[in-house]
Amino acid sequence: MTSEGIPATGEQPGDMTSGEEEHPTFDTSVAHVARVYDYWLGGKDNYAADREAGDQAIQAYPDIVRSVRANRAFLARTVRYLAREQGIRQFLDIGTGIPTANNTHEVAQSVAPDCRVVYVDNDPVVLSHARALLTSRPEGATDYIDADLRDTEKILAQAARTLNFSRPVAVMLIAIMHAIGDDEDPNAIVATLMDAVPPGSYLALSHVASDIVPAQAADMIRRLNRLMYEKTTPRRRPDVARFFDGLDMLEPGVVRVQEWRPDTEAEAKSPSNMWGGVGRKR
Ligand SMILES: C[S@@+](CC[C@H](N)C(=O)[O-])C[C@H]1O[C@@H](n2cnc3c(N)ncnc32)[C@H](O)[C@@H]1O
Repeated sequence: MTSEGIPATGEQPGDMTSGEEEHPTFDTSVAHVARVYDYWLGGKDNYAADREAGDQAIQAYPDIVRSVRANRAFLARTVRYLAREQGIRQFLDIGTGIPTANNTHEVAQSVAPDCRVVYVDNDPVVLSHARALLTSRPEGATDYIDADLRDTEKILAQAARTLNFSRPVAVMLIAIMHAIGDDEDPNAIVATLMDAVPPGSYLALSHVASDIVPAQAADMIRRLNRLMYEKTTPRRRPDVARFFDGLDMLEPGVVRVQEWRPDTEAEAKSPSNMWGGVGRKR
């Protein structure tokens, strides 16, 4: 479905609960990443299993809540920077999450109301909230695609309803690539997406780290992977940097998310277990 009122294929207009009823992975007895993340952010779209997984992570790594907040702040800063400083007007945000404060289109359209944003997620609860993501300013547009990141063909085909792929696009992969295991060739997924966008496009990416607080991260991921439907693969900084192969890295490179062009000293000091960076396609 799009903010311009075009129903997406197979979706009943106005029936925003259909995803929860029909989606094969909708099971409240097993923790799901979008709902666990919602719990950490203080949202209400989570169940006992999600809270249990979230609490297990807090026990292993007490800074996890500050880490996810630092990641959200990174998302907002990269969108604002790309819209304001680089003139980007199109965003493809894959792994959207349950809507919260400062969703991508809100940040982008606060800089330039004509920004066009396509959201992609495979979680039925995110789908059920899609309407909250479709509140575009009239000058711009938003769309929501219910798809798996691995299905790049579907994502790119449906995103073309809203985005003009002959003009620069910011591909946002914020806190999602660790959901793709090494055996699924995550680098090829990123490369396929970046091949589809023209020079002058950007990749903004953040990723759970295995080498920032190694012992705490290992304990946290072990607990989460025992309880969660989707498994998390944390990666080292050089592996995260490899997602940007062939792109020109913007300063300061791949850093802890709070260190990427922080707005305040306090923001820069907030702990996180996430690497993040932004690269530009030549
Ligand atoms: C940790 S949340 C991040 C949300 C948001 N990008 C942020 O950083 O605040 C990860 C999101 O990615 C989604 N996700 C995980 N694996 C996915 C996949 N294979 N395809 C599409 N979405 C996926 C989850 O449903 C969840 O909403």
